[in-house]
Amino acid sequence: MSKRFYITTAIDYLNGEPHLGHAYEKIVADVIARFRRSSGVETFFLTGLDEHGQKVQQAAAAKGQETQTYCDELAVLWQSLTVKLELSNDDFIRTTQDRHKRFVQAVLSKLHAEGQIYKKLYEGFYSTKEETFLTEKDRLPDGSFPAMYGEVTKLQEENYYFRLNVHQQWLVEYIEKTPGFVEPDYRRNEVLGFLKNNELEDLCISRPVSRLNWGIPLPFDTGFVTYVWFDALSNYTSVPASAGDPVLQTFSNATNSNPLSLWPADIHVIGKDILKFHAVYWPIMLRAAGLPLPGKVLVHGWWQKDGEKMSKSTGNVVDPIKVIEEWGVDAFRFYVVRELDIGPDGNWTDAGFKSRYSAELANGLGNLVNRSLSMLKRYRNGVVPPRSDELSAEAEKVIADTRSLLEANRLQAALQSIWSLITRANQYVDQTAPFKLAKDPGKAARLDEVLYNLAEICRILGVLLWPFLPKTACNIYSQLALTDSPDQNKTATWGGLSAGHMIGNPAPLFPRKDT
Ligand code: MSP
Repeated sequence: MSKRFYITTAIDYLNGEPHLGHAYEKIVADVIARFRRSSGVETFFLTGLDEHGQKVQQAAAAKGQETQTYCDELAVLWQSLTVKLELSNDDFIRTTQDRHKRFVQAVLSKLHAEGQIYKKLYEGFYSTKEETFLTEKDRLPDGSFPAMYGEVTKLQEENYYFRLNVHQQWLVEYIEKTPGFVEPDYRRNEVLGFLKNNELEDLCISRPVSRLNWGIPLPFDTGFVTYVWFDALSNYTSVPASAGDPVLQTFSNATNSNPLSLWPADIHVIGKDILKFHAVYWPIMLRAAGLPLPGKVLVHGWWQKDGEKMSKSTGNVVDPIKVIEEWGVDAFRFYVVRELDIGPDGNWTDAGFKSRYSAELANGLGNLVNRSLSMLKRYRNGVVPPRSDELSAEAEKVIADTRSLLEANRLQAALQSIWSLITRANQYVDQTAPFKLAKDPGKAARLDEVLYNLAEICRILGVLLWPFLPKTACNIYSQLALTDSPDQNKTATWGGLSAGHMIGNPAPLFPRKDT
């Protein structure tokens, strides 16, 4: 059993409906997973839902539903989104599943038995509205607490704490000597800055049942449930453990006739707001449990809509399902990855979306494939002419560049590289003017060359585009009447189309829309 390439996304809170931000992250992870698989690497892609904690309990209460029923109903919508987005995830974790709860309790028991979790009395200020502890630092200059916290009361509460502090120096050294652990670099610097300028406090990992009962009971004290982040982060290991991963055997008695070797994860894809949880708490939790650390935390930025934070209350939320219904899943996948590099924040505008659809998909890729195949059909009855290598060197360069960009998780740049080939091939049509060549019988050999080069570029584009636009890639392959799938990156090499092969019927990939 060899270890698979293991990639995860954040698991979304089940306290509302999915929006652009959630969908973007999953697509980023999916493109990476598909690329790895197409390169022959056995891959496992995990996504799912974070179902415990105050937010979810309150959302259920607001609907007057029993919490588990609320979760079960809403989870159906979220799981259906993975299908609509064409995600190739291998599993879908819900933190209310038994396999997950068992694992979290096993980890807690071990840490508690080893003295890495201890009980302490907390005395201080507490905001019931925000369900959070406050300190003197939270006071305004006039001594009061900000209005967002509502009524702030003095509280005495016993809770369980996880020893974070003792690992602080180790973590600084680990991040310093492991440059790729957090990417992009500026996020890594942010973590290092935080760790060097603040002393870590031990992490409160429990909530008394009297205050919150929607969580995993502490195995050593049923008066408490587990803090939602301790619970949620463990999903990355609970799934491999339940699949019989040998690295996680200490925490699992799962028997699997076909065990998977997944841990450590290769990439955790997350948004910038949850960096501290993934680059500080999570590595320390793993170290405390005696487990190896993941390879990389890949941090993306946040989407806004029309320059403003997306918010249900103002109604400016991009609903991925609506966009997909109107424009198709590949248009959505293309726009989000092409528009926003992994790292900075992005801004969705409907005008920007339509403009990329029309320029890059309909007029760029769609037009190239449609006219290339239509001309082959018209001038050669759809029969591929003898091989010609006129564009071979240029194509091979794009293939190599795209591969190395994808290996470095530079998805936006990889799309730009692919589009350079599309632009080149569209120019080639204009320069060689096959419609003129077709009128002159003396130029038949030249027309053969041009038609071969165009058809072969279309085939290669199918392979290169597959991780990004799987439907479109398959569509190109079926218009070429190729029976294999474009999902093998090694087939992106010049000369795959054989002379004499008969293509199928061309049809527009991205219908033009009059908007
Ligand atoms: N449940 C936690 C994550 C636990 S992971 C062990 C959580 N959930 S969330 O639903 O609030 O966010 C899930 C992911 O979506 C996060 O990575 C977050 O950054 C991302 N996004 C939420 N809104 C976003 C945007 N507007 N734009 C881009 N990504 C955003 O945090």
